[in-house]
Amino acid sequence: MRTLIKHVLASTAPQAAVTVKGWVRTRRDAKGFSFLELNDGSCLGSLQIVVDSGAAGAEHLPKLATGASAAVEGKLVASPAPGQKWELRATRVELVGAVDPSYPLQKKGHTAEFLRTIAHLRPRSNLYGAVFRVRSRLAFAVHQFFQERDFVYVHTPIITTSDCEGAGEMFRVTTRKGKPGEEPETDFFGRPAYLTVSGQLEGETFACALSNIYTFGPTFRAENSNTARHAAEFWMIEPEMAFCDLQGDMDLGEEFIKAMAKYAREQCAEDLALFARFVDQGLGERLQFVVERPFVRVPYTEAIDILKGSGKQFEFPVDYGQNLQSEHERFLTEEHFKSPVTVFNYPREIKPFYMRLNPDAKTVAAMDVLVPGIGEVIGGAQREERHEQLRQNLEFHKLRPEDYWWYLDLRRYGTIPHAGFGLGFERLLMFLTGVSNIRDVIPFARTPGNAEF
Ligand code: 4AD
Ligand code: MG
Repeated sequence: MRTLIKHVLASTAPQAAVTVKGWVRTRRDAKGFSFLELNDGSCLGSLQIVVDSGAAGAEHLPKLATGASAAVEGKLVASPAPGQKWELRATRVELVGAVDPSYPLQKKGHTAEFLRTIAHLRPRSNLYGAVFRVRSRLAFAVHQFFQERDFVYVHTPIITTSDCEGAGEMFRVTTRKGKPGEEPETDFFGRPAYLTVSGQLEGETFACALSNIYTFGPTFRAENSNTARHAAEFWMIEPEMAFCDLQGDMDLGEEFIKAMAKYAREQCAEDLALFARFVDQGLGERLQFVVERPFVRVPYTEAIDILKGSGKQFEFPVDYGQNLQSEHERFLTEEHFKSPVTVFNYPREIKPFYMRLNPDAKTVAAMDVLVPGIGEVIGGAQREERHEQLRQNLEFHKLRPEDYWWYLDLRRYGTIPHAGFGLGFERLLMFLTGVSNIRDVIPFARTPGNAEF
């Protein structure tokens, strides 16, 4: 019977017999005995094991080097060493898998860049073990948040034939060799097909039946932007609410981010303490702020005025009708407001066709949530629920209404006001851990020129 090290370390009393299994972090030899640090990834901490030279299997000790896997039976006793409550006095040691001397993960700190080249081994490091434990916990928290609020989880398709965002950043799916663009009607689906950039359109069909829904799944974008916050494959959470307007959408986005920050602080405290120590000193304070303070809300026009009046030299020009660039977003949230900011009511030209046209006929009921260190984490909107207006929106964006016939149908058969948003799970993780590159919060990053592993 194997016990996970997190449970061993949380023990409230000594134990006569415990078996642990894991990977050796370090071994130190003394006269007549050795110390092993064993880690099994169940928590940040390793278990200190004392192996007397007389213990069964002690002859394997020379092979129990950093990276080797081992099973150890022993007695759990109070540790005399400072900083740890328990240690294991081994009665039997087994070498499960020896380690080749070329093992690249050593005790000394490695750079994130180097660790990306060994993405198959980096989860064994303290930092990445912590990142991926937090990722798992937060994925659970996402479901809990929505399930507790009666949202229905919908699995929207990964292969799609419509470009939700209209940005033309889709990966083609084909079984054709040679020139896949030619004669798409003879291709597998009989028409051009792509990996989805968003499950929103399909999600809306379910919100127009089951009321409140959410999706949580892989999303793909062929954006050729090599930045620290863009990945070609990432996970997106997309709630969609029936009988809801932009106000309700902004409220949910804010409530959701706050709930995730609160969950992380309460449930991932040990791992968060590691990030606060080695990655982002301001992390604890920032998360507390996020949980306790309301986010700032500002219309796009006002955000533009603030940027123009800031006296800052930006690389990209600031002008009404232009998209906010990362540097603009970060100025607003980090320097001007020093708080997460929800920007709403953007010019219709720079937002997709599905957003609801406002009475001013110039802006749409869009909202983006911007957070310090990252910029945009949420993009959402109230949807255009008026059939004729949606047709006009499609034309305005030079899209063919016939390609969206089923989406238009929702507006013909019992249409409703509805709203939703998309949150990039990796960006949320960056925000909650302080890890500054998206490549380091996803197990195996897909970025331009990079799909190893
Ligand atoms: O703002 P976006 O493009 O919105 C949509 O896709 C809507 N259809 C969502 C909806 O309303 N249901 O993307 C939403 C979020 C962004 O705010 C960002 O957090 C994340 O998805 N995102 C990316 N994350 C990592 N890498 C990329 N290349 C990303 N592109 C978007
Ligand atoms: Mg966006």
